[in-house]
Amino acid sequence: MPNPSHQLLNRTRLDRFISKALQVKRSEVRLMLASGRILVDGQAAESISQVVHTFSHICLDGDILLNNTPQYLMMNKPVGVVSATKDAQHKTVMDLLRGGSLRGESLQGESLNGEQRAGLHIAGRLDFNSSGLLLLTNDGHWSRRLSAPETRVSKAYRVTLEDPIEPHYVEAFAEGMYFAFEDLTTRPARLHILSEHLAEVYLTEGRYHQIKRMFGRFNNKVTSLHRFAIGGLYLDEALQAGQSRGLSADELERVF
Ligand code: URA
Repeated sequence: MPNPSHQLLNRTRLDRFISKALQVKRSEVRLMLASGRILVDGQAAESISQVVHTFSHICLDGDILLNNTPQYLMMNKPVGVVSATKDAQHKTVMDLLRGGSLRGESLQGESLNGEQRAGLHIAGRLDFNSSGLLLLTNDGHWSRRLSAPETRVSKAYRVTLEDPIEPHYVEAFAEGMYFAFEDLTTRPARLHILSEHLAEVYLTEGRYHQIKRMFGRFNNKVTSLHRFAIGGLYLDEALQAGQSRGLSADELERVF
């Protein structure tokens, strides 16, 4: 019996999934189903056209064919680490997870094994020199929803600038700035000046180096950039740079 339990799929028909996983004809799947050998989420499957997805639990004769658990992690990303799963030159956030930086237990009460780590992807990158809240998941549906332009989840950053921040920046951020390279105007962003060199910025999109480029309009260089919230989800300050932990059900809700 192959062990495809880590397999991630979009929504698909039950017969298509089983015939691919076991390399059998769909007519055989029909017979398996008719004799009650297939369980989906603990119930005998009733139709070969039943739709299954990444997190369906599928068994044949008691053997597990698919058994993924959704994983949602927050990481306190340090500066100097790439938001990627692989990089030839630099340490990646996945290397940090591999290094055992997962604090406590994941949401489902178990720590991640290599296979579970391999299924993770990043939901909303941070630049190499940026730090703070980074989300990782194996749930593509959730991360697509999070990054869909129409969702407009707000992302909050604390930013330090080389030169004094001037009050007229606030209006320019709120109006949006034209980025010729992408031929677009940024969505209204909120700039809240905290002190001469420190501000909070709230964005509902994530253009390439967006905050640095926005301050760049005023020739003011960003010297540090830290994301502290995504929607209503705040970075757990108890997480040291490089550490991660699973999100609670309540935190999952708060993102949106
Ligand atoms: N804007 C940037 O310039 N960098 C980030 O990492 C996030 C927003």
